[in-house]
Amino acid sequence: MKIAVAGTGYVGLVAGVCFAEKGHNVICVDVDEKKVEIMKKGISPIYEEGLQELMQKNCKEGRIDFTTDYKSAYKNAEVIFIGVGTPEMPDGSVNLEYIEKVSRQIAENIENDCLVVVKSTVPVGTNDNVEQIINSCLVHNVKVEVASNPEFLSQGQAVKDTLEAKRIVIGTESKNAEEILRKIYEPFNLPIVSVSRRSSEMIKYASNDFLALKISYMNDIANICELVGANIDDVENGMSYDPRIGSNFLHAGIGYGGSCFPKDTKALKYLAKQNGYRLRTVEAAIDVNKEQKIKLFKKAKERMITFKDLKIAILGLTFKAGTDDLREAPSLDNIAELLNAGANKIYAYDPVGMNNCKKIYPTEINYVSSPEETLKEANICFIFTEWNEIKKIKPIVFKELMKTPIVYDGRNVYDLDEMKENGIEYYSIGRN
Ligand code: UDX
Repeated sequence: MKIAVAGTGYVGLVAGVCFAEKGHNVICVDVDEKKVEIMKKGISPIYEEGLQELMQKNCKEGRIDFTTDYKSAYKNAEVIFIGVGTPEMPDGSVNLEYIEKVSRQIAENIENDCLVVVKSTVPVGTNDNVEQIINSCLVHNVKVEVASNPEFLSQGQAVKDTLEAKRIVIGTESKNAEEILRKIYEPFNLPIVSVSRRSSEMIKYASNDFLALKISYMNDIANICELVGANIDDVENGMSYDPRIGSNFLHAGIGYGGSCFPKDTKALKYLAKQNGYRLRTVEAAIDVNKEQKIKLFKKAKERMITFKDLKIAILGLTFKAGTDDLREAPSLDNIAELLNAGANKIYAYDPVGMNNCKKIYPTEINYVSSPEETLKEANICFIFTEWNEIKKIKPIVFKELMKTPIVYDGRNVYDLDEMKENGIEYYSIGRN
């Protein structure tokens, strides 16, 4: 099929590349000329395992191309996927300006009947608005339908999550739209859940917010474990045997970050409020997460009194391992708190996240090229991301390199006894 994809962020680019890999003819559209130039050379603008290889393969075999020329890209497309950003507004609502802009551009340029598919995460009812905008701005006499097809990819394994998705959710209001989407996904050979557009939009939020809630629940339990002398690792393990609970997404830690959970929890809370309802479970997840993110900083502040002139070692900056993304990363909340509290000697290491962090803190942080360099002569260390490079640091290394081996671990990387045996003052989450 001839597919155009609007937006080449995580959602659009990964979808486009995977559609090409499955044999479709794909043109990816983005407004950023520099980015398009890079992508045309087969270079991925984001760090995502396997993506660049697939881009290069499909570029070479002529199934995917990149352009800023949306007019010709949309003109004869059979299906147009919208994967542009839906950022958060200060009040927690979703900024739909890019979705609306693309909808108008589509309407003004399509010359054939076409199915427009909204892949971006959008509040329930947005597909209806997209349809209205398109129908009111159409220039040519063509028939356009709109469908919802949310993605569930997790950063760091986006390609795998797309090619081997647990399910494909499609939300349509006509048999024709459903059939087109089924045809596109036929070569993927994956379970398809076909529902109405509004249910499809809701499945995305309900899924993400459920996972966020699960994490906040475990963080809440971890906090009480600390108070009553239980160990969250053991509690997690004991819970995980129950198939009704499951064993995934039970890790307590420094709180969830990233481009989805923080935004999507706030968006659903807002949507509920707009409809006269209080979504108290999701509100609780948001509140717990806000506090969880700076829990270790608060502990450290009590212990250290001041951070001025202390060498602070930071291990890990990204919101999780396997990505260079720093959006809503707990490290950023902690760095802001540390700087506010007078920290003036912060040394950070992250295997791929330092360049993005430099854009936020160009001078306030010393970026170094190895964990050892960070730890050398440090007075205190924070572990914010569970990178393998960081997990494999032996406890003795903290003892040998640091001036005072005081470690605050937001990812529960180390064994309590082992840290104690190595003479390290070690604080983690929910463990005694
Ligand atoms: C998430 C969803 O998993 C994905 O389905 C959706 O499409 C987009 O949002 P992503 O943001 O890439 O994906 O990251 P994910 O791996 O889900 O982790 C989110 C956050 O939760 C991270 O900060 C991670 O460290 C944290 N987390 C995850 C925990 O604290 N504990 C866990 O057990 C799992």
